[in-house]
Amino acid sequence: MLGCAVEASKGSKHISIMCVELAAGRGVRRSRIWQEINLTNLRINMKTRTVKVGRNDPCPCGSGLKYKKCCLSIGMPPNRDIEALYSKKYGIRLKKERDIEAIRKAGRLVLETLDLVESKIRPGLVTEEINTLVHDFTLKNGATPAPLNYRGFPKSVCVSANEVICHGIPGNRVLNDGDIVNIDVTSILNGYYADANKTFFVGTPDADATKIVSIARECLKRAMSVIKPGHTLGDIGWSIQMYAEAQGCSVVREFVGHGVGFDFHEAPQIPHFGNKGAGITLIPGMIFTVEPMINLGKKELRVLDDNWTAVTKDGSLSAQFEQTVLVTEDGCESLTPYQL
Ligand code: MF3
Ligand code: CO
Ligand code: CO
Repeated sequence: MLGCAVEASKGSKHISIMCVELAAGRGVRRSRIWQEINLTNLRINMKTRTVKVGRNDPCPCGSGLKYKKCCLSIGMPPNRDIEALYSKKYGIRLKKERDIEAIRKAGRLVLETLDLVESKIRPGLVTEEINTLVHDFTLKNGATPAPLNYRGFPKSVCVSANEVICHGIPGNRVLNDGDIVNIDVTSILNGYYADANKTFFVGTPDADATKIVSIARECLKRAMSVIKPGHTLGDIGWSIQMYAEAQGCSVVREFVGHGVGFDFHEAPQIPHFGNKGAGITLIPGMIFTVEPMINLGKKELRVLDDNWTAVTKDGSLSAQFEQTVLVTEDGCESLTPYQL
């Protein structure tokens, strides 16, 4: 059992929070100071943001303790300094209403782009043609394709077929009947980023293709159902891993979801595996992607000599679905919404 004690001497600029461990039968043992709050900074950074936090919810400071065992017990209101704390402690930039609206707009363009690509997918299509489609459509709509020249990525969209997990570079690969292909679109509109992807069937899928695509889709659906204030990043990863592995599939570890909106990849990272209740507590205003990559076989991958294309080591099929998600007061809203 864990409890908290607070120490602050008069005139002190710090509060030290001690963690005490109550070991059964052995009395109280003090453990290390696990958090110091700098009062000077708190005053300087004082900003308000309304967040509803119940006594039994995880503390918004990210300690992993219940609010009543943490900041409530030291008299800290839950709705102050959250923005400064998340920025300082995790590098997370919370979004305001005007940002959210702009990302929603970028998200709408991303979805229209995915719809356009879907309408053209057929056996015989060359992946380079998908790049041209996405590139031209994005520019025509006053936006910029984020992948182009991103850390040296040479194209405007990622196209990942069959055993390719992610970051497939469009080129001369021809899509065949029975293939699955993931199209990952990120657009920058008025300076704001939205990021989403879907895995499509090319022609008629076989049983394996049908299975991996439906499991990957369900993983994202389940993950989104646990996104709400008070839940944690670990809850998201756990919900995906639990389901995928129960179906005999595996979850890729090397690539994760990410904060998004002001930039392509922001804090925090969103692992698609993990433990219930672990990690950062979700709060309203966070925007991040969830984009589980699920393999029909083993989780291991290798990256091709082009330094981008990630493929399953065992050659098994891999599928992925991604949306850009906003944490709201009572749950979440997809800013790239499509039916899962
Ligand atoms: N869109 C991918 C993601 O979901 C990132 C692609 S990076 C690129 O995060 F350079 F390959 F485009
Ligand atoms: Co992404
Ligand atoms: Co993406």
